[in-house]
Amino acid sequence: MRISAMLGAMALVVGLVSTATINGQESAPQGVEGYVWDGACKECHEAIHESWNATKHATAINRLSADERKGTQCIGCHVTGPKEAVMVDSKMVNANVQCESCHGIGKAHVEAAKAGNAASARLTKRPAAALCQTCHNDKSPHYKGFYYNALVGLVHKK
Ligand code: HEC
Ligand code: HEC
Ligand code: HEC
Ligand code: HEC
Repeated sequence: MRISAMLGAMALVVGLVSTATINGQESAPQGVEGYVWDGACKECHEAIHESWNATKHATAINRLSADERKGTQCIGCHVTGPKEAVMVDSKMVNANVQCESCHGIGKAHVEAAKAGNAASARLTKRPAAALCQTCHNDKSPHYKGFYYNALVGLVHKK
């Protein structure tokens, strides 16, 4: 009885004190307003999520060492949104090239879709070459060239 009450109180405290940290420093998350991250898209676009999950975009962060994730030189093109690690409850929520890297910030779309009116808050249906090239360019140390028409069909199945 006592123990379970204590655990309950602890869980409450943990829930209350969990705050977002950026690069290990506690702070209000900056530039993350409106991001809902890929798990929120999975709810309605499950087949697309599964297909994306099998691509290298879904594991791009694994290419970087712990030090490279802390610095600013490498991380920007291997994450979504802010070009630094965004930690929420010890999880790096913006790891990898997620849906919102290509389709735009998702909150309004998700809210509209949940209200049964997805068409009132559309996202970018087919991101253009210029968007891809914000990452696929010669600032990448492993740049192999970028051929939009050849690669666009590989991002995920429809
Ligand atoms: C690397 C960029 C990229 C990522 C990451 C990405 N997409 Fe896409 N998505 C595209 C492109 C490009 C198209 C258009 C494909 C085409 O027209 O051939 C598309 C099309 C779509 C469409 C429209 C399909 C239709 O009806 O024609 C939906 C919905 C979608 N994506 C959802 C998602 C979701 C959900 C995720 C994450 C699980 C995701 N996308 C991740 C680039 C991306
Ligand atoms: C609650 C369900 C729901 C969620 C969650 C959701 N979508 Fe959608 N999405 C829809 C519906 C429904 C459509 C079709 C809208 C239409 O054509 O009328 C759609 C369409 C799209 C399209 C095609 C362009 C457009 O806006 O019509 C893209 C791209 C897309 N969603 C991406 C995403 C991404 C990325 C996420 C996560 C950030 C997401 N969706 C979360 C329901 C959802
Ligand atoms: C936020 C940065 C970013 C954006 C935007 C981006 N990519 Fe990528 N892309 C990457 C990174 C990083 C990799 C390498 C991932 C790895 O190898 O671990 C990659 C890899 C790929 C691959 C190889 C995937 C595989 O599974 O073999 C393709 C194809 C690709 N990108 C196409 C695109 C297209 C098309 C777009 C635009 C619609 C796009 N990318 C937008 C960062 C990005
Ligand atoms: C300008 C965006 C960008 C930056 C900055 C960047 N990357 Fe990448 N990285 C990519 C893209 C895009 C790919 C996919 C390969 C390509 O360029 O076509 C990739 C692929 C990789 C790969 C897979 C190797 C391969 O041959 O595909 C590794 C490892 C990697 N990056 C590590 C790093 C490291 C380490 C740094 C920092 C020194 C870094 N990246 C900085 C965009 C970037």
